[in-house]
Amino acid sequence: GRTWRVAVCPGDGIGPEVMAPTVAALRAVAGREGLALELQHYDWPSHDWHRRHGEMMPGDWREQLAAHDAILLGALGDPGPTNDPDRYLLSDGVSLAPLLQLRKGFDLWACERPAVRLPGTPQYLADPRAEELDMLVIRENSEGEYVAQGGRLAPGTAREVATQVEVFTRLATERIIRHAFERALQRAHLRQTGERPPRPFPRTGGGEANAQVCLITKRNAQAYWGEMWTEIFAEVAPDYPEIATHHELVDAACMKFVTRPWVFDVVVASNLHGDILTDLAAVLCGGMGVAPSCNINPQDRRVPPLFEPTHGSAPDIAGQGLAGPEAMLLTAAMMLDWMGEEDPAAARAGERLRLAVAADLQTGSGEARGTEAVGAAILDRLDQQ
Ligand code: IPM
Ligand code: MN
Repeated sequence: GRTWRVAVCPGDGIGPEVMAPTVAALRAVAGREGLALELQHYDWPSHDWHRRHGEMMPGDWREQLAAHDAILLGALGDPGPTNDPDRYLLSDGVSLAPLLQLRKGFDLWACERPAVRLPGTPQYLADPRAEELDMLVIRENSEGEYVAQGGRLAPGTAREVATQVEVFTRLATERIIRHAFERALQRAHLRQTGERPPRPFPRTGGGEANAQVCLITKRNAQAYWGEMWTEIFAEVAPDYPEIATHHELVDAACMKFVTRPWVFDVVVASNLHGDILTDLAAVLCGGMGVAPSCNINPQDRRVPPLFEPTHGSAPDIAGQGLAGPEAMLLTAAMMLDWMGEEDPAAARAGERLRLAVAADLQTGSGEARGTEAVGAAILDRLDQQ
């Protein structure tokens, strides 16, 4: 197989702590499967780098990272010595958070956040069917509510007005919706072949499909983009006659995520709606500590996708060895899956890693064991597998 060059960026807070066992696990599964991984560490983007250089990343970050096939990022955000919680919202208070810079800089327009129940983690829902939760939330990652247009007029005065523009283009909407249907098709196929348990979804015209795409909007209040998304969804859907379709308003979707999450399969949402829904979905699966995430450009495999857990840098527990590395490990497994679309050794390594994490969670005491203990348990398990 080919050699995969990975930029490893541990970042801030618990990032370096959860990255260490992840790198060890990656080396272990790569060794087992004969996968050629070349891991190169970067101490940026990070607030450490910012303290030393006055910026989160060097000016040529794009060129440096573009030399890699993928980027594996720990976490970003640092409240700083003043413990001002606002400091870690945006890197320097003005520019885009580096996370957003990376997503934009490489045009990683699709954010995928699988939400699969992991037995052994906290279950907040009482209905036993909530154990069957298995969805994939696809978040539009390039525009929408995140375009950073607008401003503050007369700041600090009684007449102040803040505007925050949202931009939705047909091009970006169509490609994200089409991508959601493509992913649904893959899930339908896996259910047909028995590689995943079957899931029946009602179809509008009667009968059942074994995969579904649910469109999220707020078209009752935000009609312009809501109508455009609905129209484009209706235009794309006929190209995928085997996939069931559904629509939910974002507020109702939040309610149903909590009351009957098992009715969802692939969910496609705008940038902000996707951001909010994926925190909610993560908690239903077992918490932010087990939620993986990736940012990809499905039309261009030459730009490096960015793999990062959904969680942040957790400054409250950073430096204490308490953070669970599961989300980072599962994120690394997603990276291997992505490589696995071309390289069977990577596909096997990803499956191996995911199984080890799931098995460890299931047999773990449920108590916090600390980063190192979990990392060691995973390595042991990978040895024995
Ligand atoms: C996420 C985060 C980011 C986002 C923040 C840190 C800008 O919440 O990856 O979900 O809103 O996209
Ligand atoms: Mn978020």
